Amino acid sequence: MSQNNKMEITILSIFPEMFKIITDYGIIKKAIEKGIVKFNILNLRDFTTDKHKVTDKPGYGGRNGMVMLAEPFFRFYDEYEQRNGCKPYVIIPSPEGKTFNNEIARELSQKEKLVFFCGRYEGIDERVKAIADQEISIGDYVLTGGELPAMVIIEVLLRFVPEVVGSRESVENDSFYNGLLDHSHYTKPAEFRGMKVPEILLSGDHKKIEQFRKKDSLLKTILKRPDLFVNKELSFEDKQLLVEIVQELYQRHV
Ligand code: ADE
Repeated sequence: MSQNNKMEITILSIFPEMFKIITDYGIIKKAIEKGIVKFNILNLRDFTTDKHKVTDKPGYGGRNGMVMLAEPFFRFYDEYEQRNGCKPYVIIPSPEGKTFNNEIARELSQKEKLVFFCGRYEGIDERVKAIADQEISIGDYVLTGGELPAMVIIEVLLRFVPEVVGSRESVENDSFYNGLLDHSHYTKPAEFRGMKVPEILLSGDHKKIEQFRKKDSLLKTILKRPDLFVNKELSFEDKQLLVEIVQELYQRHV
């Protein structure tokens, strides 16, 4: 790892090519070019010892499918430890894990080095969990492998690494960052098929625009994600804005 890299992400997968989806486009590509993040995308088959580079075998107990072998993951782990002088921080994407969210992403973004073990088929031999630090699920549904969940987790956590996203403000205004949904966004033209951009956004009055956006964000959260709103700790300003929202809604209906 070069001195400038702030984060190193290592991935172990039988489909390393899949990760081009994140490394070859957009902000992650730029972050790699700027030396903010370095990816080591490794083929699990390179950690096998047999002629056919087998990474999976039928599960014990019968009547279930193939299970990823423990051996290649442990070989990687031991080699990593020897080379780096420390154990890797290992994440296994799995539907059994803790459900991923911004808080987990923010914690992961603080780590200098992360390793993802991607399983396929029925999953990874349970004994590999002994060397994992976290299992993370991206939701209550099952995907055919850990690659897409790993990419989702990586994309989200990298947004919290300074300088990956051009403007901090844009990350801080993102949905969920402050326990609220993001405000609405509009671009040109100011009127489209009879639908007008709220006039205040064209006014150039930044203070009023800020207030309008905060109200929009609060109202959107109440209407679309009441579960989030109930858990939001409201500041004095939030409460004032809520009173204004109620007054405005009331005026519209009298
Ligand atoms: N692998 C398969 N399904 C998954 C999920 N929902 N989250 C994380 N990893 C998975």
